[in-house]
Amino acid sequence: MIIRHATMEDAGTLAAIEGRCFPAAEAASPEAIRSRVASYPECFWLLCTEDRPDAEIVSFINGFATDQPDLTDDMYDDASQHDPHGDWQMIFGVDTAPEFQHHGYASLLMRHVIDDVRAAGRKGLVLTCKDRLVGFYARFGYVDEGISDSTHGDVVWHQMRLTF
Ligand SMILES: CC(C)(COP(=O)(O)OP(=O)(O)OC[C@H]1O[C@@H](n2cnc3c(N)ncnc32)[C@H](O)[C@@H]1OP(=O)(O)O)[C@@H](O)C(=O)NCCC(=O)NCCS
Repeated sequence: MIIRHATMEDAGTLAAIEGRCFPAAEAASPEAIRSRVASYPECFWLLCTEDRPDAEIVSFINGFATDQPDLTDDMYDDASQHDPHGDWQMIFGVDTAPEFQHHGYASLLMRHVIDDVRAAGRKGLVLTCKDRLVGFYARFGYVDEGISDSTHGDVVWHQMRLTF
């Protein structure tokens, strides 16, 4: 397994994985994924089976950096808000392709992302998640800040923050 950033060639595969991981109302559209990769390829972390551009993508994490401390719905589809020097690393999606789930891959990748974000000198990471995954993210040091204002996909989201 290797971890690398995204290129435009990955956008179609990433959108397909996103479509298999999330219900339609929550999944980022192929257009949104393309625009995110075009604007902040360095804020996509891909866990791949091999060190080859055509190797299978097992799991990926993406989101932009910003000085805004809270994750808001307008961020998902507005890649122009990415600030390479932003204080906070937002996490918009954590996806493991269904056939690779429950092997520790998302955890491995999340630890790598946290290390990279710390090395980049940011203040920490922010994500939103459903009730059932609060315990999963708490394992990495994310703290539940309660219910977010997000209405994304018409479900209830907790905002969680890992502060260095
Ligand atoms: C959540 C997700 C990224 C985990 O990926 P993964 O590679 O299987 O994660 P890991 O193997 O590192 O960790 C798995 C652990 O996460 C937790 N977990 C994963 N999915 C879960 C779920 N649906 N409900 C509750 N806990 C879950 C469990 O503790 C699980 O442990 P187990 O494998 O012993 O059951 C993956 O299930 C996924 O892509 N889901 C669909 C998209 C999604 O919901 N992403 C998170 C949005 S914020």
